[in-house]
Amino acid sequence: MIPLMKFTFMNEVETRKALSDFILQAPRLSMDINCNEFEKKFSEVQERKDAILFNSGGSGNLAMLQALKNMDMLKDGDRIGFSALTWSTNTMPIIQLGMEPIAIDCNINTLNVMLTDLKQIHEKYNLKAFFITNVLGFAGDLDRIKDYCDTKKIILIEDNCEALGTELPSGKTGNFGIMASFSFFVAHHMSTIEGGMVVTDNPDLAEMLRIVRANGWDRNLSSGSQIKWRKKHNIKSEFEAKYTFYDLGYNLRPTEITGFLGLYQLKYLKENINIREKNYFRLEKIVKENPDLVVLNHSHIKKLSNFAFPVVCKTVELRNKYINQFSGAGVEIRPMIAGNMQKQPFYKKYTKVIDELPGVDFLHNNGFYCGNYPELSEIDLESLSSCLKNY
Ligand SMILES: Cc1ncc(COP(=O)(O)O)c(C=O)c1O
Repeated sequence: MIPLMKFTFMNEVETRKALSDFILQAPRLSMDINCNEFEKKFSEVQERKDAILFNSGGSGNLAMLQALKNMDMLKDGDRIGFSALTWSTNTMPIIQLGMEPIAIDCNINTLNVMLTDLKQIHEKYNLKAFFITNVLGFAGDLDRIKDYCDTKKIILIEDNCEALGTELPSGKTGNFGIMASFSFFVAHHMSTIEGGMVVTDNPDLAEMLRIVRANGWDRNLSSGSQIKWRKKHNIKSEFEAKYTFYDLGYNLRPTEITGFLGLYQLKYLKENINIREKNYFRLEKIVKENPDLVVLNHSHIKKLSNFAFPVVCKTVELRNKYINQFSGAGVEIRPMIAGNMQKQPFYKKYTKVIDELPGVDFLHNNGFYCGNYPELSEIDLESLSSCLKNY
């Protein structure tokens, strides 16, 4: 059996022991210094000014959209483009926050939205924002997409939950949008069991994200920001400030366990990404020799931080063949994330606009993925290679 993921952490035993010790001695387990330190270190690694830790990647997505609404950068009814191939909790907050999701097609060879796909949709729907997903560690032509969004005044936000560590010559994924989210759920590039991060270079957005994360209050802001908010709302005492709620928020806070694990696993991130990339290239060689399979294009990507290994077959019949080949060998597989999001029951229930999206339909019908992670043994990689062969 080759599961989607073997362990919760990289260096599992050592990490679990360290976590046990931490829990026994930590004076406080709710959000505190370890979360702050992890935010600081993560922002340095990602090369962004600010990082805000959440209890999941999905929470980060919700908070980013709420922050934009709180700051009047988005409003009810605005049309928000999103990559049609993504995860449910990328798209759901658009609906939950009263805006209109517009699905954008993805390219069969890059798995991602390319500038041409975005242009077509923007010309038709006049988007206010584009919430792009960098799918399975791959990415579209993000530099061109960013330039286009800047010119057309489209707010670009990135869901980078599946692509921590991927780099284009023009920069890391997660650094093209005004904000970007990351997930630290098990099987992602680094795990804090559950957890997520949002990064930004905009101090006002960072401040608002902290307000949104914790009840709408100012307790996790710098003292300078607290003074500003209190003055604006005429809050005169510390006593009153404790329970003053400035704007719409939730409780999306992480715990000190998240912070501790984040700091601990961050040490192994580079190695983790390098092994995933090496595994990817090894398996890709087999794909290139098999005429049944589509060879994915990552020539525009400098560092491919693969999340899971995507298999795209040329026909639906061939997909059935390869699903049987993988399942028969005991390899755990999954559909190509949520497929064409427009086909999901929740989407049909809540939205009016359904477009023809041939690229994402192809990926939905012809694709699947299996795990790619550092703990894959030589035997596992040989077994995956045989599953990818045309017998
Ligand atoms: C693209 C994408 N966005 C968001 C999420 C949600 O992350 P989480 O499970 O941490 O809430 C995922 C989860 O895998 C994802 O793949």
